[in-house]
Amino acid sequence: MKILIINGPNLNLLGSREVGIYGDKSFDGYLSLMQKLFEDYEISAYQSNWEGEIIDKLQEADGNYSGIVLNAAAYTHTSVAIADAVKAISIPVVEVHISNILDREEFRHKSLISPNCIGSIMGFGLDSYRLGIESLRVITNN
Ligand code: DQA
Repeated sequence: MKILIINGPNLNLLGSREVGIYGDKSFDGYLSLMQKLFEDYEISAYQSNWEGEIIDKLQEADGNYSGIVLNAAAYTHTSVAIADAVKAISIPVVEVHISNILDREEFRHKSLISPNCIGSIMGFGLDSYRLGIESLRVITNN
């Protein structure tokens, strides 16, 4: 199983950004842990602050990965273009969020991308990513 994690804007600041919400751990450290945990899988991660780069990555991943774990961050709530890209590709995409977006400001309650994803996982801290990978394992029978 080849899995790509795509992180959107400001998620490069995990560990120092709003630690009360997103925690004090860097994503790189967490990624290493997951690569050990899922040692039979090839797990890689990509982060961009740019909407178009995230769209390019989704398109490039199609056919080259078993599935995608996507945290589109703030673009979740605004990007028709990312939602369209998720719909356009044929590999499964699982939406994840570190925080429970339904328990935050009202503008975060709406996700434009969730209707085009296999499912959504939110509110489990960084473990939302691990659960996202688990869910890809379940739906692809690996
Ligand atoms: C987030 C939630 C978004 O509302 C926010 O803009 C983020 C991170 C999360 O993982 O909880 O940047 O996607």
